[in-house]
Formats: sequence, C-alpha cells, structure tokens
Amino acid sequence: MTGTERKEDGEDVKKEEGEPKTDDGEDKKSKDEECAASEHKDKFNPSAYLDCFYKSASEDTAMQIVLFFLPGILYRLPEKVRTVLDLGAGPTVYLPIALRQRAESIYTSDYAPANRDTLISWIENRSTFDWDNVCKWIANIEASMETGKQMQEKTRKLMRAVLDVNVHESPVVQSVVWKEKDSTPVPEKFQVVSTVFCLEYSCETLEGYFRAVRSACSLIEDGGYLIQGGVLDATTYNFGGKTFRCHRLKQAHILESLKANGMGTTAEQGYKFITHDDIFLLVSKKI
Ligand SMILES: C[S@@+](CC[C@H](N)C(=O)[O-])C[C@H]1O[C@@H](n2cnc3c(N)ncnc32)[C@H](O)[C@@H]1O
Repeated sequence: MTGTERKEDGEDVKKEEGEPKTDDGEDKKSKDEECAASEHKDKFNPSAYLDCFYKSASEDTAMQIVLFFLPGILYRLPEKVRTVLDLGAGPTVYLPIALRQRAESIYTSDYAPANRDTLISWIENRSTFDWDNVCKWIANIEASMETGKQMQEKTRKLMRAVLDVNVHESPVVQSVVWKEKDSTPVPEKFQVVSTVFCLEYSCETLEGYFRAVRSACSLIEDGGYLIQGGVLDATTYNFGGKTFRCHRLKQAHILESLKANGMGTTAEQGYKFITHDDIFLLVSKKI
C-alpha cells in the first residue's frame, strides 16, 4: 500500500496520514516497530489497517487505483462465477462487494486470526467498521444505484466460509473457521481466486514470492482465473505504528511466476495487466 513505501534507493514515497509527526516534530515512522512478513499473524491490527487505508476510499491512492481499475478487470470474468476465494483478504470485504453481481458463492480467508475475526463480524453484521464510503466509491464506478447497505446485504448472503490460510504451507487452507451452515461445502479449488496486496506482503524474498504464487494458483480450478493486485518496488508498508517488510516485487517476477504455474500471460490467453503508480491489477486464466 502507499501508506509508506521505502524504496531501496532511499526515496520515501509517503502519504501524509501514513507519516504523522509527533508533537515534538520528530518523524513518527522512526519509532515504528519493524515487523517481519511472517509477523502479520500476531502483529496485524485490523482496526488500524482499516482506519489507515479504507476509512474513505479517497484517502489512499493505492486503494483508489485498485477500486478504479477493478471493474475493468472483473468484467473479463465469466458473467456467472460459481466459486470465488479472496486469499489474504485481511480485514477487508471490498472484493466480495465488487464481485457480488457475478459470484454465486464467496469464500474469504486470511493468515491472521484477528483479521478472520473481523471478517466474521462483518458477515454476521456486527462490524465496527463502516464500509459505506468504499461501497459508494464502488457503486459510483459501477454506475449502480444501490445503497451501501443494499450492496453489503447482497454480498453477505453470498458468503459461504472463512478460511485460515498460509500461502507458505501445504495445504494452503489450514482450517475452516466459520461456515454459513454445517452442510456448506468448502471446495478444494475455486473458479476464481482473488488476492490483493497479499502475495508480495507475505514474504521477503523472491523464493518466498514464487512459493506464494504457486500456492495461490494451486487453489484455482483448470480453466479458472486469478485476479491479482499489489505493489511493485516496495520493501515495506506501515500503519498503526508498525512497519512490515515485504518482497520487492518486479513485473518480471509476476510474469515468471504465472508462467511457471500454467497461467496465461498473453492477450490471446485473456491476460490483462493494468498498472499505475506502481500499483497493479491483473487477470490471468489457468490454461
Ligand atoms: C496488506 S494486507 C492486504 C489485505 C487485503 N487483501 C487488502 O487488499 O487490503 C496483507 C495481508 O496478507 C496476509 N498474509 C501475510 N502472510 C500471509 C501468508 N503467509 N498467507 C496468507 N496470507 C498472508 C496478512 O495477514 C494480511 O491480511
């Protein structure tokens, strides 16, 4: 995310709220606790994350770019999608909401218990975070007349399960922590796997990134699709007084990892890659 991206050439790209100054004028970032990517599990604060990046879609450039380009990526999916998994959703639900018109069954997931609890609280309509601003932004781009409440109600009805996942373990799905009903099936593979700001944030090396992509692709049915979003060239991101290290992703890593996992990377194969300000979104079909 663009809260703060420290690039190795020493250039800092910061948005104001991601870099508050202390009263004595000292750079607050210098007091941030530095965390390894693996520490997302215990050190991720869902409320701080949502407040920093999702309170108003217009506050975070990365979010703006993702939400702006998402409909252009999603319209490349089949009109009806049987199953979707949002992999590494964090505490967020904007992808299920943006997919509500196409998806028949939506599964969501994360690595951090606190994020999974936040996802469950939204599904059970006891969320403490107000998604209305993000819904308005999505509705605007879709030219939809639905209210945020209607969009969320429609999406909630599609939610089937919340999964504990780790893209560095096999199997990736470690357990099912919430299900709509006892009888709700959880597929081993999904027609669509979406994953935004997760794969390069889950690791700090190229090897780790390749493993994460392999894991994501292993969850896609043959002929299914990957929707991937993320950030190029960042080595950290920060919010709520913590700085998480991540893999410095290059476009070449994305292409190499998709090809290695049998995913389309040409326009003829339905591949589409959109990038703006180092934020990217792509759709790739498993061939
Ligand atoms: C920057 S957040 C992105 C959340 C959300 N997808 C979004 O677009 O805002 C990174 C997410 O990756 C998850 N993550 C980190 N390591 C992971 C792993 N090994 N397996 C799966 N998810 C992981 C974190 O728990 C966190 O929710």
